[in-house]
Amino acid sequence: MAVLRFPPNEQNITGEAEVRAKLTELGIDYELWSLDRVGADATADAVLEAYAAEIAEMKRRGGYVTADVIDVTPETPELETMLARFDKEHTHSEDEVRFILAGRGIFFLHLNGRVVSVEVGPGDMLRVPRGTTHWFTLCEDRRIRAIRWFQETAGWTPHYTGSGIDHDHQPLCFGPAYLGPRVTTGLNA
Ligand SMILES: [Fe+2]
Repeated sequence: MAVLRFPPNEQNITGEAEVRAKLTELGIDYELWSLDRVGADATADAVLEAYAAEIAEMKRRGGYVTADVIDVTPETPELETMLARFDKEHTHSEDEVRFILAGRGIFFLHLNGRVVSVEVGPGDMLRVPRGTTHWFTLCEDRRIRAIRWFQETAGWTPHYTGSGIDHDHQPLCFGPAYLGPRVTTGLNA
């Protein structure tokens, strides 16, 4: 589930309804989807088949023509080079739409003069509209598996703003352990 933060005061928002409401205000679509369709070791084709209905619905809603599964691990060749393409502020001429199946990462969204970060993890579906200034990086474990939607088959390219604002924000992930207070009872204390 996503964690929404508002630097510099680091106000945190968690919880599906709360995150969705706040992101909707900011013009960003967010939904929490079920992950029980496929096992963790499912192939990309099996994932696309299992989520065929959601993929088709998103295509209808956003005019996307294709979807795929991206799979990144610490062993991915040229990983740091790949991450360096997206960890500087940029825009795209099409929406950036991701449904996270595994791993965690942070989207930094530069909206109306302030930077909001959204830490995404398994189950999170986020749509960053075309033209939104943003950047993205993975959490420390360098792992992400996600369904992506595209509006053009030609591909999807970052247009850098060169603002340098990305230097001012640390990509610190809370991780799943942050989500929800630890409950201590007489049974497990
Ligand atoms: Fe991007």
